[in-house]
Amino acid sequence: MKPADLSLVCDPETHGPLVLKDGPAGRGGSGEMLVNPKTGRQYVIRDGIPIFLREGEVGGSNRRYQKLYDRMARFYDFSTWAYSRWKGMSVEARLREYLDELEIAPGSRVLEISVGTGRNLRVLPRGAEYYGLDISWGMLRQCRRNAAKWKLDIDLFMGTAERLPFIDEAFDVVFHFGGINFFNDKAAAIREMIRVAKPGTKFVVGDENEALAKKYEKLPVTGEFYGRRGGAISAPVDLLPAGMQDVRVKDIAGGDLYCLTFRKPR
Ligand SMILES: C[S@@+](CC[C@H](N)C(=O)[O-])C[C@H]1O[C@@H](n2cnc3c(N)ncnc32)[C@H](O)[C@@H]1O
Repeated sequence: MKPADLSLVCDPETHGPLVLKDGPAGRGGSGEMLVNPKTGRQYVIRDGIPIFLREGEVGGSNRRYQKLYDRMARFYDFSTWAYSRWKGMSVEARLREYLDELEIAPGSRVLEISVGTGRNLRVLPRGAEYYGLDISWGMLRQCRRNAAKWKLDIDLFMGTAERLPFIDEAFDVVFHFGGINFFNDKAAAIREMIRVAKPGTKFVVGDENEALAKKYEKLPVTGEFYGRRGGAISAPVDLLPAGMQDVRVKDIAGGDLYCLTFRKPR
């Protein structure tokens, strides 16, 4: 974590400020941790990544997906490449279907919720400040490796989309792609995205459509997950709080995925 990030982070439980203190060193511990001086709650920093989750704190669907992505982190980029080939597109052209919706200016502070291996950030313009949060340590580790390989500067955080460790109105751009269909609490995740974004921010939120879920349901590995989806999937327009502006949904990847865009009022 960079020292400047201290002004952006907060305790995800209370939204109170955090201070940097000496913490456990060794086994990935950096010798520093974040502490809420009011409650005493501590968040360890491991390999430079602050961990805003406690052991055993992640339950339900979030836990299942955290385990899944920890296991598949090393293969994730290959699987997305294979999917793009199947769709007859380059990876970049496919990602641009939703990433081109983002309004990134030089110096913008950009947060990707569920950053995964960082493949989206690779495509975005240089000259902005990039921040990524994910629930899976495996994905974050892969993202760090990729960032070094791609010469990208990304500040990473481990936490859940439903309880973001950032202060109100910290970011100019906030987006999410690929996980929300199975979050424990989609409405809370959307509320949190909006809370940490500046007024006027345009959001991009996307994931699989029901049509793709039906295909995945029949495949050996994905079937276990998509078979449990408990109802048809659609873009979570109904979960947007009142007052959001320019709400639009478009189908991308030949109808396999949805891309929901909306704007926080100024
Ligand atoms: C399909 S991947 C998408 C990664 C990246 N956004 C992309 O487009 O390549 C879904 C990601 O969501 C993360 N995830 C799942 N549930 C989450 C939650 N509740 N909070 C934060 N991240 C979560 C997973 O760990 C995984 O990295």
